[in-house]
Amino acid sequence: MVEKLQKVWLDGELVDWDAAQVHILTHSLHYGLGAFEGIRAYKREDGKSYVFRLEEHVNRLFDTCRLILIKPKVTHEDVARGCIDALRANHLDEGYLRPIVFMGEGAMGIYAPNNPIRTAIIAWKWGAYLGEEALKSGIRCKISSFARHHINISLAKAKMMGQYTNSMLAKREAKLGGYDEAILLDAAGYVSEGSGENLFIVRKGVIHTPDLSSSILEGITRDTVITLAREAGIEVKEGRITRDQLWLADEVFLTGTAAEITPVREVDDRPIGDGKVGPITKRLQERFFDIVRGTDTKHVDWLTAV
Ligand SMILES: Cc1ncc(COP(=O)(O)O)c(C=O)c1O
Repeated sequence: MVEKLQKVWLDGELVDWDAAQVHILTHSLHYGLGAFEGIRAYKREDGKSYVFRLEEHVNRLFDTCRLILIKPKVTHEDVARGCIDALRANHLDEGYLRPIVFMGEGAMGIYAPNNPIRTAIIAWKWGAYLGEEALKSGIRCKISSFARHHINISLAKAKMMGQYTNSMLAKREAKLGGYDEAILLDAAGYVSEGSGENLFIVRKGVIHTPDLSSSILEGITRDTVITLAREAGIEVKEGRITRDQLWLADEVFLTGTAAEITPVREVDDRPIGDGKVGPITKRLQERFFDIVRGTDTKHVDWLTAV
């Protein structure tokens, strides 16, 4: 459960946590058109806090708004500043940030072009999304019976609210079956992504991940991992992955702001490799955490001081 904190950033102002309320006729609540982001702030070994890849997240928020034809009243700079303000106002040196752009109340038809477009940023404490043990020992995944939205049914590159019913159905199905996470195939049957994570496999020392023309979100952690892998001299290939390639992989891992770099030790009750966290996954995970929490300064451009 999210712990109650002090302030929420709402339409450009910090308001009391309990005052951050919306009307029951809030359009996005009914039909799910809206954009959101998930961003993390970490405390590094220098004792200071930094938001990880803030600019990229804010850009994706506005890209989602463009894709879904809603125009925020606030600017990129307002949102970036609001993220920092929300962390400071709640005295968080580590935390999760959730900017959200949504349609407020007014008309209730599907079109509703004149409803106010509102923006909020909520900051809260959030540890490892799938648990500390998941990061250390890996998780068990199940290929979902739900397919990822086809690229012409929804907008894979948009991080938009309503799209997450698909993720939730897949996740609930996986959890009901006793698994930790769902892996969704696309409508053509190729491996797509997790319910809230991009997917990577390692086979014979080469990393493979679905390419951006597939039905995946353009993950910022995905980009981070590809960059770090290439810097480490590991080949990364973007392209189609089949279910049997997944089962035959030496290593599988999921990436996301919430999930960070989570190893997968089993898919569909089949162990991945020897069922333990693989060396490439481990290496990338260590580098990632050294950048966000440690002392690695090669990518200081990814860090915004709080
Ligand atoms: C469906 C989906 N895919 C992938 C990701 C990973 O994206 P990122 O690394 O930018 O958090 C997320 C999380 O935002 C997601 O919801």
